[in-house]
Amino acid sequence: MIGIFDSGAGGLSVYREIVRLLPNERYVYFSDNAHCPYGEKSQEYILARARWITEHLISRGADVIVIACNTATAAAIATLRAEYGLPFIGMEPAVKPAALKTHSGVIGVLATAGTLKASKYLDTKDKYTDGVKVIEQVGKGFVELVENGELDGPYAEQVVRESVEPLILAGADVIVLGCTHYPFLRGTISRIAGSGVSIIDPAPAAARHLVDVMSERKLFRNDSRSGGKNIGDPKAADVELSSSGDRSALERIFNLL
Ligand code: DGL
Repeated sequence: MIGIFDSGAGGLSVYREIVRLLPNERYVYFSDNAHCPYGEKSQEYILARARWITEHLISRGADVIVIACNTATAAAIATLRAEYGLPFIGMEPAVKPAALKTHSGVIGVLATAGTLKASKYLDTKDKYTDGVKVIEQVGKGFVELVENGELDGPYAEQVVRESVEPLILAGADVIVLGCTHYPFLRGTISRIAGSGVSIIDPAPAAARHLVDVMSERKLFRNDSRSGGKNIGDPKAADVELSSSGDRSALERIFNLL
């Protein structure tokens, strides 16, 4: 069984991509919304939550865990891998594909404060962005918009504009979505960014990585990729949704998948 967690409903943007590739696997999704957002919390706090959630997911039957959260990946994946005997898949900051794609030589990264100051992100940036200018912005208020189900409309537009506009004014022609909540605001982000700007969501790459790891470790359910009835509909998959706080936020986003 595949366990997936995030600080909230954002990780459903990763779940959606995974189900496209593995429609007939079993899933347990945990939203830690009683502790959301993670973005400004300390590494110790997030690590403590990640350990608790890992144990919860294992108790529900998970044999592989996807940390569908950039902030929690940066804060906890190395420790979780050392402490637990099952594979963990994390979110990679997609600066490498962005640096390869840019024509203007400027890329924008939207992420949480926790992700942007983590060594995981800083190391990746150092390694892959030679000769490319990287402009970073915290998507201020984005997580709250998604948790409240406000994905468009004038207020969402105003909040998103504040973080996206500086990237465009700096000349970015590629924007990396470095937080799993942000893909749910993709329509608003791309309207503000304009048609000449490409947006990169790392979720499909994370889903492909999961398939490779499960294949290496022979973790597929017998009928996982053939023989089952689901053809990739995230709502029709065999999934258990759970959360530490009110479930309605999670259900609202789930129903939009
Ligand atoms: N969705 C998360 C991420 O990818 C966390 C957002 C938050 O809780 O601040 O970083």
